[in-house]
Amino acid sequence: MDKFLIEGNGPLSGEVEASGAKNAALPILCASLLIDDELRLSNVPALHDVITTKKLLAQMGVAVSSPGPGLFAANASGITTCVAPYELVKTMRASILVLGPLLAKRGHAEVSLPGGCAIGARPVDLHLMGLKAMGAEISLEGGFINARASRLKGARIYFDTVTVTGTENLLMAAVLADGETVLENAAREPEIVDLANCLTAMGAKISGAGTGTIVIQGVRDLHGADHRVIPDRIEGGTFLVAAAITRGKVRLTRTDPNALDPVLVKLQQAGAKVSTGEDWIEVDMQGRRPTSVNLHTMAHPGFPTDMQAQFMALDCYAEGVGTIRETIFENRFMHAQELLRLGADIRIEGNTAIVTGREKLKGAPVMATDLRASAALVLAAIAAEGTTKIDRVYHIDRGYEHIETKLGALGARIERVRQ
Ligand code: UD1
Repeated sequence: MDKFLIEGNGPLSGEVEASGAKNAALPILCASLLIDDELRLSNVPALHDVITTKKLLAQMGVAVSSPGPGLFAANASGITTCVAPYELVKTMRASILVLGPLLAKRGHAEVSLPGGCAIGARPVDLHLMGLKAMGAEISLEGGFINARASRLKGARIYFDTVTVTGTENLLMAAVLADGETVLENAAREPEIVDLANCLTAMGAKISGAGTGTIVIQGVRDLHGADHRVIPDRIEGGTFLVAAAITRGKVRLTRTDPNALDPVLVKLQQAGAKVSTGEDWIEVDMQGRRPTSVNLHTMAHPGFPTDMQAQFMALDCYAEGVGTIRETIFENRFMHAQELLRLGADIRIEGNTAIVTGREKLKGAPVMATDLRASAALVLAAIAAEGTTKIDRVYHIDRGYEHIETKLGALGARIERVRQ
């Protein structure tokens, strides 16, 4: 298992490009199961979760190739099985995204039930509720979701909790269903809009993506298409927090500033000068120590839970006391224990963390526990005095493309120790 050795040093400065969005690429890769034709994608990030999705598709008999950096092509016309095995699903919960498209196009899917994960129970009951409302017969046997339908039927589906992958699964199921489907209280994340744009390019009839009500008119068949994946707002946001935490100045390019609104507001509250252009964002701390921010996580367009850990790292160094409330996942403060090892002052009360900022933290051995928690540890380490050793960086490789190279180009000293 690889480790990072991080030497804390001065302010980060320079320019860094956003990679393609993991959470847009994964459902879009699964959308290739909806056609017997080629789906060609660009701006696909080189991430471990993308490799896992590629493996998942390939073992079903989908012809997948990566003709160049960031490029990806998939053709499901030779599909041989509709099974998503436990070995792959257990390493990536987003594997559940094959369920909707397999059922809609192939009439059958067997997907290993994703278990709990480090950040909470994360059930899939709403995915199943929606598919049942569309006429699917679903049973749970031997740890598998076994779903069948001759042709799904359009339905009105109300989500009593906003779910991102749940919305994506049902959107992909509905595009080939018979009649109209209305998804109420749908997730509004930019990644949903990107998936809808790709499906539309494939011939789907969708309106309202990006709002709480998505209306889909089912069609008989979809066709091949070309699509460019949107920039990763969480990766980009992480680099901007890196600028703020080190009192530096960083320009993020090839990004979408609108998608980062809730994060930019918090960076401004922390004292950063934030400037934006059409596809870039610059955060400049002008050498100043950040001020603490309070936040609570919400579904988009609220503050993203995937940026919570990074802002906790920021509050650890900020002037004042910051209160962070996590409302999406019940166990998403595991980074707090690791930040304490660097000397942070954090008190957890239920779903709230109270963080008293310290002028300095000191390097120590820490352990990455999940994807965004690991990002927070990297941020805290680059601003700390001395050396931090981060164990289990495979978590970070699931969602950040060459993070050590990208942050290294901004002046961070991160060495990957391969083992
Ligand atoms: C997605 C993102 C993840 C992000 C999360 C919240 C991907 C691949 N992952 O995860 O990075 O942190 O959105 O923005 O896009 N829930 C239920 N029943 C369900 C489904 C969800 O109760 O059937 C609950 C969950 O337990 C959680 C909340 O809904 O409390 C939101 O989860 P959800 O939006 O589904 O997260 P994911 O789609 O798994």
